Amino acid sequence: MVLSRTNGPMPNALIQTYEPFPFVIDHGRGDRLWDTEGGEWIDFYGGHCVCSVGHSHPDLVSAISAQAEKLLFYSTAGKVEIRDHAADALIEFSDGVADRVFFCNTGAEANETALKLACRMTGRSKFASVEGGWHGRTTLAMSVTDDPAIRASLEEVLAPCDFLPLNDTEALNRFDFSQCAGVILEPIQSMSGIRVAEKDWVSALINKAHASGCMVIFDEVQTGIGRLGKPFAANVLGLKPDFITSAKGLASGFPMGAVLMSEDVAAQLKAPDLGSTFGGGPVACAAMMATLEIILRERLMDRTTEIEHRLRNELLGLRVTALRGQGLLLGIESKDAKALKSKLYADQILVGGSRDPNVLRLMPPLVLTDPSVIQLIYSVQAFQAVAV
Ligand SMILES: Cc1ncc(COP(=O)(O)O)c(C=O)c1O
Repeated sequence: MVLSRTNGPMPNALIQTYEPFPFVIDHGRGDRLWDTEGGEWIDFYGGHCVCSVGHSHPDLVSAISAQAEKLLFYSTAGKVEIRDHAADALIEFSDGVADRVFFCNTGAEANETALKLACRMTGRSKFASVEGGWHGRTTLAMSVTDDPAIRASLEEVLAPCDFLPLNDTEALNRFDFSQCAGVILEPIQSMSGIRVAEKDWVSALINKAHASGCMVIFDEVQTGIGRLGKPFAANVLGLKPDFITSAKGLASGFPMGAVLMSEDVAAQLKAPDLGSTFGGGPVACAAMMATLEIILRERLMDRTTEIEHRLRNELLGLRVTALRGQGLLLGIESKDAKALKSKLYADQILVGGSRDPNVLRLMPPLVLTDPSVIQLIYSVQAFQAVAV
């Protein structure tokens, strides 16, 4: 290689963000990862809820490489058939909760876009969100994110936002949406510890927001693309927000984001409202279409529900007090969560932490195999058996 620093004694230039796993990842396949020492890990973390059809699914890899050979990239300045096909595929997959889509690159960009459009369409500039909600690191997305560490020293540049307590009907009844452009919520809050928004509360929130001319955004960056056993949480709830935002599992690891909306909302868009150089790039579209095909062909949404039921039956015990969430977005609740995480790591099972110290998150690839499920159950049961 012409650049030689990778071979030299120089310190590594990469800025550290999250605390890394205790090993270096070499390669992955399905629901497994292998480290550079040859160790095999079961991945219940899924690259942070991303690798929906598993690591390097052969059909996904072929779709990406075929499109890369044909046309790696062209922006939306040029019409490319695969972009139109991808939009139709995602709307068909979404099964009635949206009619039109805008492609971008990340979850934050999808949320930023939906929040911005809510401002444009209502002429308002204030937001509402939910306590514990996490929506990304761009300015409007941070404005609606309830995480002091993310917001620190930026309050002055963030947009005004009020945070509603989750599932609190009285607080919702008292809340005034009349100044709000949009209200955003995760149907299941992930980062704050798998906290599920109750259907009746969400339904009342939509009705109340709409009665005051405030638009509703479901942040489905983690709950979407089949993870809950349906295409989106909106399908699970039988509710239709104005915008659904998607990313993470959408193209199973190839960067892609999307904002889905109804025909009525799309009809209000004006030419300069939307744009993104890389959004809906041909390779991302190929990756997304392959992801959706695999999910449907391999019946992964049914599988998600089956595994959830099995885990519900087998994981609860003295030291695991609850299994929160739905499908394969689950939270193991235990006051010994830290010790359980260490036990699972010792057994080479990757899980995620959360902002709730008593909750570990499971967000594995949807292609999770029976041996992996059994190994998790076995490890948790072995942990239960050890005296506290
Ligand atoms: C619910 C939710 N929304 C938005 C985001 C931001 O997504 P991205 O990191 O792709 O910008 C995340 C990221 O973890 C998320 O969990």
